[in-house]
Parts: sequence; C-alpha cells; structure tokens
Amino acid sequence: ADDIRINPSILAADFVNMQSELARIAGADFVHVDVMDNHFVPNLTFGPQMVGRIQETSPIPLDVHLMIADPDRWAPGYAELGAASVTFHLEAAAEPVALARRLRDIGARAGVAVKPATPVESLFDLLDDFDQVLVMTVEPGFGGQSFMPEMMPKLRRLADEAKRRGSSVWLQVDGGIAPGTIEQAADAGADTFVAGSAVFGAGDPDAAIASLRDAAAA
Ligand code: DX5
Ligand code: ZN
Repeated sequence: ADDIRINPSILAADFVNMQSELARIAGADFVHVDVMDNHFVPNLTFGPQMVGRIQETSPIPLDVHLMIADPDRWAPGYAELGAASVTFHLEAAAEPVALARRLRDIGARAGVAVKPATPVESLFDLLDDFDQVLVMTVEPGFGGQSFMPEMMPKLRRLADEAKRRGSSVWLQVDGGIAPGTIEQAADAGADTFVAGSAVFGAGDPDAAIASLRDAAAA
C-alpha cells in the first residue's frame, strides 16, 4: 500500500562504501541513520559531519534516529543538515515538546522513540506535536538482535489511541524486522518499518525491500 514505508538502516551497511551501499536500496522510502554516542547506548556510530555527507550524497531522504544523550542540544543540528525526519528518545529529552517544535520549525518531521521498557501512554498527549513515533522492538544499540513480540500490545495501544484522536502520526518499528516479524508489526498498526540486517544482509537489498513491503501489506 501507499502508506507503508520501508526504511533500511545503514547500521548494517558497509560504512566505507556508503555511496555504493545507498545505490543498492533505490526502492527505499527513507534511509534510516542510527546516531549513537556511547552514552545513551553502549555503542558509537557517527555524528553530524558524517550524516551531513550522507545527506549531500544520498538520493533518498534521511530518517535520522538519535540514540544520544541531551538531544535537546544536538537534534536541531541534524534537522539543519536537511534530514527529512529527526527522531530522539523520550527517555533522553528534557523538553520533548519544545524540541519537537524546533525540529518542525527547521523543516524536519519530528519523531520520538521509546525503548522497550518505556510505556507509550506517556506519549498520548504529545501525539499532535510529533509526525512519527518509534516503538523500539529491540533494546537500542545494536543491529542483528531478535524482534520482541511482547512490544506488539504496546504498539497496538498506541495505534488505537492515534486513531481515536484522528492523528496522522506515522508509527514506526525498529529492531529485528524481517519477513516473519514484519507481519506482526503491521497487524499491530505500524506503517513505517526500519530494517538493517534483513536488507543489507540480503544478496539483493532492493529485492529484500520489495519482499518486506509485500509482507507488510498482506
Ligand atoms: C538498533 C538500531 C536499528 C538497527 C536495526 O539500535 O536503532 O535501527 O539498525 O537493525 P536490525 O534490523 O538488524 O535489527
Ligand atoms: Zn534505528
């Protein structure tokens, strides 16, 4: 369907050959860019300089996922680089609503993410302030982990609440999304799917994107 988005995560790509890796996912809706700072999560990826170069060279718009401490300070810079969306973690933000407004003012879609242990109910009154909500289906920090099916009731409660409020917010899942798990997330109400290993680990990443899209739509 038109309202399904598949966002490959370049965490699973070859960082040294980013341009050719991006050329292998022409059918992607957005490129998911995982920024990690070794504080909010126990892993380190890249920062604004690298993301800026990816932004300049990618034919596909960027969906930036900030797994960093103090997003109030750092997130606007990623919006200023031209990222289509910037998602920060609710657990890390001091003033999530004010930060979302700044991101929108700069011209990015504003996103908020919750770790597995964080309830979604705390987001219900914030839905109008965000363009997308990310429900993590693994503990953030690493690719290649197993999908947590126990997140599906939480996702469903969020989807129900968004519908009840007439919200057009996108509901994103990230972690362990592959054929065999994407169906559950789609059934629970997700419309935007991040997949790292299932895309870049495939022989033909673009074909893997097409399979994920079909599985989510079924
Ligand atoms: C994990 C990252 C994910 C990761 C997903 O902290 O936020 O975006 O790349 O990787 P897979 O799809 O392999 O679980
Ligand atoms: Zn991510």
